[in-house]
Amino acid sequence: MKYDFDTLVDRSNTSSSKWGYRKALFGRDDVLPMWVADMDFPAPAEVVEAVRSRAEHPIYGYTVPPSSLWKAIIERLDRFYGWKIKEEWICLTAGVVNGLYSAISAYARPGDEIVVQPPVYYPFYGAVKNTGCQTVYSHLKFDGERYTMDFDGLEDLFRGRSTFPARSPRIKALILCSPHNPVGRVWTRDELATLGRICAEHECVLLSDEIHCDLLTPGARHIVTATISEEIAQNTVTFMSASKTFNLAGLGTSFVVIPNDRLRREFMRARAGHNSGNLFGYAALEAAFRYGDDYLTQLRAYLAGNLRYFTEFLKARLPELKLIRPEGTYLAWVDLRGLGFTPAELQDFIRNKARLALDDGFAFGPGGEGFQRVNLACPRSIVVEATDRLEKAIIEWRGAKKHGS
Ligand SMILES: Cc1ncc(COP(=O)(O)O)c(C=O)c1O
Repeated sequence: MKYDFDTLVDRSNTSSSKWGYRKALFGRDDVLPMWVADMDFPAPAEVVEAVRSRAEHPIYGYTVPPSSLWKAIIERLDRFYGWKIKEEWICLTAGVVNGLYSAISAYARPGDEIVVQPPVYYPFYGAVKNTGCQTVYSHLKFDGERYTMDFDGLEDLFRGRSTFPARSPRIKALILCSPHNPVGRVWTRDELATLGRICAEHECVLLSDEIHCDLLTPGARHIVTATISEEIAQNTVTFMSASKTFNLAGLGTSFVVIPNDRLRREFMRARAGHNSGNLFGYAALEAAFRYGDDYLTQLRAYLAGNLRYFTEFLKARLPELKLIRPEGTYLAWVDLRGLGFTPAELQDFIRNKARLALDDGFAFGPGGEGFQRVNLACPRSIVVEATDRLEKAIIEWRGAKKHGS
């Protein structure tokens, strides 16, 4: 079946956060929404059918995930990532962020420290803070083109060698974003092996958020952190979902894979009661994993086309802006520091001059200032419209600069 990603589907009256809350969140209705990581594409037909078919049965009582769902997850992880897991390692959760809250509550006490690698997906900060823990930064290194992890700095945090404040025994977990949102890195085997070794050495549980694992640019390959070695597998909690790949976030269903018995027991204790997704989510997840391969192949090709258009446009017409080439995710991380704005001025420029609803870089924590994150999972016509709006705003900015205002 050929999927149509070109047609813009009307999402009014669906309470879409991306489209419906522009006035509330961005101060105006006429901004093109390219912020939250939600695609403007319909889910695969088989997924829609699975949800519809379940909805037709009028009783929506407590539901146990069917054994066919576990099978679908086990088969897909093996098929896509060569990861052989056991059914009992899987725990369902009501979303990845929800699962992160449970994991932090399971492995840390209030006041303990959790490492994040900024600039990074901002709900990580909320998960740490709202569980009473403290965020410790292991800043990504940026050479102007590409981001890498700072392993020396991370070792320093554990050993308490950092100048101030002294760290160490209270670090209980590190949240890894793999592939990384927003900088787009798909981490290499070596990088993951080094990170995994350091965490294991310091008894720091590695919380590996791999929600974007399927969304790779041509040539990129995702390595599941827990496949690197048995030692790393025993210290890693992996968060996955069909929600990014197949646009199912509103169904609030995802899963965690925990090979280590103790870590799994502690996680299950912290995951409150039935906080494990819902019957529509189970139906959608299973159908997506069983029947979604062709959709994913076509989706990746379409997203690659969007990225190509966006890259070439910036290069040819907007040399003041610099795209950090993503290896994974459908998100483009754009460096606009060349415009010389403060973060507040840049926000105003993007919303009110370019009329775009993007994610402000500063929201992703230190190192994000002066950047914007652009969601390219939309029909090409939206990318074209967005780049045109951006160009008009930049032309005006050039004019004002020339006349010294
Ligand atoms: C890295 C990352 N983790 C988690 C989420 C959200 O997952 P969920 O909706 O399942 O909580 C997102 C959504 O953008 C994300 O980018």
